[in-house]
Amino acid sequence: MAKIDEIAPDLFRISVFVPEIDLQFNHFVVRDEEPLLFHTGMRRMFPAVREAVAQIIDPASLRWISWSHFEVDECGALNEWLAEAPEAQPVCTEVGALVNLNDFSNRPPRGLRPDETIDTGRHRYRLIPTPHLPHGWDAGVMYEEANGILLCSDLFHQLGDREPITSDDVVDRFGQAIATYQQHPVLMDYMPFTKETRRQLETLAALKPRVIAAMHGSSFVGDGAAALLAAADVMQQHLGGANRLSAHA
Ligand SMILES: [Fe+2]
Ligand SMILES: [Fe+2]
Repeated sequence: MAKIDEIAPDLFRISVFVPEIDLQFNHFVVRDEEPLLFHTGMRRMFPAVREAVAQIIDPASLRWISWSHFEVDECGALNEWLAEAPEAQPVCTEVGALVNLNDFSNRPPRGLRPDETIDTGRHRYRLIPTPHLPHGWDAGVMYEEANGILLCSDLFHQLGDREPITSDDVVDRFGQAIATYQQHPVLMDYMPFTKETRRQLETLAALKPRVIAAMHGSSFVGDGAAALLAAADVMQQHLGGANRLSAHA
């Protein structure tokens, strides 16, 4: 059963909790003249997410479908959505379109150049390529300037069935989730940490987002710049250098 919350003006969070893995999967709908869905969800979640989307907009009216990187929770149900919405166009990074979507998608994708935007009507979302952040060559995030909203995918990943919005310390929750995964024989090394990771997080911090919409866990409302800079430290602590190597020992 999906939970629906409006977390910012016209921005709805559709959350499906999977108790077996203690994890939420959040899908975001921008209700506007040209509606946007960010994260299609997995194919097996499609019926539940579709039913939730239908409570916000007519699913057939979807115009834009986007995500961060090629992975089942991000874009697995893309073709199910394209069958549902005849005018919908898949939108991702240029490399994502070139490497994966040209083959995977049943409709031609639009690969956005860095800082290219899509206009939903009252809102404008800008694509910022972030290769390998959170992971994947094709990764990117989307930013809406007017309300300071960052659609950040797996960044700030939190375990548990979390509240829709929090101003609590999501960086600490993020660190706990990474530390838990680092101890897991299969889920370790969730995200890479390199010099580039910190530079990319500093670039995102310079946007000074006020709402950070996370795929797994609560969306954060508050000082997004401070949270992003602190996230770099937490990622370095758990995923950089010695700790990473010791996780394999
Ligand atoms: Fe991911
Ligand atoms: Fe994810």
